[in-house]
Amino acid sequence: MRLSPALIALLIGCFSVALSLLLEQICSKYLPTTLPELFFLIIQGLVAALLARAIKLAIWWQWILLIFPLAIWLALKLDLTPSFLFGGFLVFVLMYWSVFLTQVPYYPSGQGACDIVAELINDDQHLKILEIGSGLGGFSIQLAKIHPKCTYMGVEIAPLPFFISLIRSKWQDSTVSFKLGNYEKINFADFDLVFAYLSPAAMPKLFEQCKAQMKPGSILVSHEFDVPGVKPSDALQSDLDSKVTYLYRIA
Ligand SMILES: C[S@@+](CC[C@H](N)C(=O)[O-])C[C@H]1O[C@@H](n2cnc3c(N)ncnc32)[C@H](O)[C@@H]1O
Repeated sequence: MRLSPALIALLIGCFSVALSLLLEQICSKYLPTTLPELFFLIIQGLVAALLARAIKLAIWWQWILLIFPLAIWLALKLDLTPSFLFGGFLVFVLMYWSVFLTQVPYYPSGQGACDIVAELINDDQHLKILEIGSGLGGFSIQLAKIHPKCTYMGVEIAPLPFFISLIRSKWQDSTVSFKLGNYEKINFADFDLVFAYLSPAAMPKLFEQCKAQMKPGSILVSHEFDVPGVKPSDALQSDLDSKVTYLYRIA
């Protein structure tokens, strides 16, 4: 049985809590002075982060496990009201609820990726462009301003980013249409260019979907993450950041 990274992180978190509680007991029994609780929380975070590193969990899990005990401590010190905490929890659920299933959290691709894709398109082309995992909508809305003759659709699985992208699109009078849903349920055959900024975990399955559905000559553009074992048609680096964008032309 293969455990998901979220479950492994949870188990590591529980283990480090147990270890720091044990350490606290031992110290209070054998040391003449009481050590501050912050000391044990730092140990707890460090143990969890090092364990996550040792078993090669993604870097963001290492940071989450390192900071989590201190964040809880800080929240308790600030004496935040339960309704405030519940509100924060709800925001996180609406933003990141799907990460447990998809292993793809929200983070924006930025101007560099948009510039690279904009360069690939001629001013007189009428391409159909699909952004899979459109997040807050910034990429497609920006690209639509540069190439207004193309048609755009963004699909996003998490409700809060989708809702924000919808409002942004209406607010900015953009032609981009955003849909709430899973891109795995969308037929890529209708699109000339598919833009993805997902995660290494999603790439093999995504490429299979592209090969099965996209027309010959159409293109998958993946920002930052390549398809393991597949040579890209091109790899472009932005001047704005050091990230590479990979192009896969469908044969
Ligand atoms: C790294 S963010 C990229 C956001 C945006 N494309 C950009 O470039 O700024 C990835 C987004 O993909 C969404 N996502 C992950 N898996 C998905 C799926 N199967 N269907 C639709 N959206 C998905 C996540 O919720 C997240 O908002």
